[in-house]
Amino acid sequence: MAFQGHPVLGLLVLLGLLTNGIAVSPSHGIASLNRTSFPRGFTFGTASAAYQYEGAVNEDGRGPSTWDTFAHRYTGKIANGSNGDIAIDQYHRYKGDVRIMKKMGLDAYRFSISWSRVLPKGKLSGGVNREGIKYYNKLINRLLARGIQPFVTLLHLDPP
Ligand SMILES: *[C@@H]1O[C@H](CO)[C@@H](O)[C@H](O)[C@H]1NC(C)=O
Ligand SMILES: *[C@@H]1O[C@H](CO)[C@@H](O)[C@H](O)[C@H]1NC(C)=O
Repeated sequence: MAFQGHPVLGLLVLLGLLTNGIAVSPSHGIASLNRTSFPRGFTFGTASAAYQYEGAVNEDGRGPSTWDTFAHRYTGKIANGSNGDIAIDQYHRYKGDVRIMKKMGLDAYRFSISWSRVLPKGKLSGGVNREGIKYYNKLINRLLARGIQPFVTLLHLDPP
């Protein structure tokens, strides 16, 4: 320890560190980081992935995704045998979620499409699930109505 040979100096250094930590606010600290610290037009947003957020895996005609099958077939491979069956339940709670985004002052929300919801059999020839399209339309319309720009991830590792 550098303080061992000079106990008084050590104490002074320590006090100096403490007072610095308490009394001095850095010129570029977290407290002064706000929107004006970013270029004009910078987009602040948040993002999610369908399997971790939507839940409602068996509702309104959705088919299974690779993750649904994996999580149910190999329960020992995932901590606590968890799966995305309910997840954050954004499928049912999207209105509340958008309300929170608005409250946070976000400009954008990026979400991914669960193709199992739109193409339950994984192919156009297997049929298009209108309910799935309806859900994304409702989410997008709600975001636009609140002035939040929707961004879409075309695929987040969960194909049908
Ligand atoms: C925002 O940050 C700037 C410096 O980046 C600072 O001058 C200004 O006071 C801050 N505004 C608020 C409301 O904290
Ligand atoms: C597993 O479940 C226990 C008990 O509910 C919880 O404390 C722990 O955080 C969970 N682990 C993971 C990785 O989710």
